[in-house]
Amino acid sequence: MTEVVSLPLTAWKDTIEAGVQARGIAALEAGNVLAFPDLRFEIDELELDLLAPRVGGKSKNISLSPRGDALKGVEGDEARARQMQAMVGRFADFAETLTRNLLQPYAGSLQRARTSFRPEEIAGRQSSWRKDDTRLHVDNFPSSPTRGKRILRVFANINPQGEPRCWRLGEPFEQLAHRYAKALPKPVWGSATVLNALGITKAPRSAYDHYMLHLHDHMKADQAYQDTAPQSVYEFQAGTTWMVFTDQVSHAATGGRCALEQTFLLPIDAMQDIERAPLRVLERLMERKLA
Ligand SMILES: [Fe+2]
Repeated sequence: MTEVVSLPLTAWKDTIEAGVQARGIAALEAGNVLAFPDLRFEIDELELDLLAPRVGGKSKNISLSPRGDALKGVEGDEARARQMQAMVGRFADFAETLTRNLLQPYAGSLQRARTSFRPEEIAGRQSSWRKDDTRLHVDNFPSSPTRGKRILRVFANINPQGEPRCWRLGEPFEQLAHRYAKALPKPVWGSATVLNALGITKAPRSAYDHYMLHLHDHMKADQAYQDTAPQSVYEFQAGTTWMVFTDQVSHAATGGRCALEQTFLLPIDAMQDIERAPLRVLERLMERKLA
């Protein structure tokens, strides 16, 4: 089963001893979640206002571009947008420093992607089943194919009322892939080219992206699976930071508000054990190259 492995880090910028680094990387690649219960992302008193409900307006999340220069989803005046950009940007920098220090073998290959702030309560939110992240799923990006690169995400629970962020964690990727492999439709020849030409994707989808997308949808659409799949519930307390390969770990966020999240992409040849990559797992199952 997927486990939550805690590491005793207390500062974002400290160098991290080799033994802790090795434990961290092994736990992540094995499909576990790394939690840092004593690593709090500090919010300035002047920023508390940003954590009030409905700051995101109509959009669910506020997001910052990988270079930190463009903020989307914030409503309000220019000063508020600048303050939000500073808070989310500070988290992005802290998360990158932490990730580079803890996962040193990845440092040369790590690609920083978007940062998000998620101000709204998850529980009770209405959405289509496909966008419903309270259902167990593995992540992929429908419009931005990764072509096998790993999706590594760092989260921080910054809930101002001290409320936890609740997740469900599901079965290991290998087991999940076995369960659904036969049900996933084969890519239609030429469809990746057409989707890309129409601008629906930013690059052509590989067969891997195709299968990951269908795996995500099959899991979420399968109510019996949601109810009966092997799973456990975990509460990330306010002030906790955690890190996980969300393309590998079956997860669902079921409750809580105010989390920050930084996404990184990682080419699989930077991994210590490349055979753990979802790309390799699916390639073994389907007996062909997928990216
Ligand atoms: Fe997710």
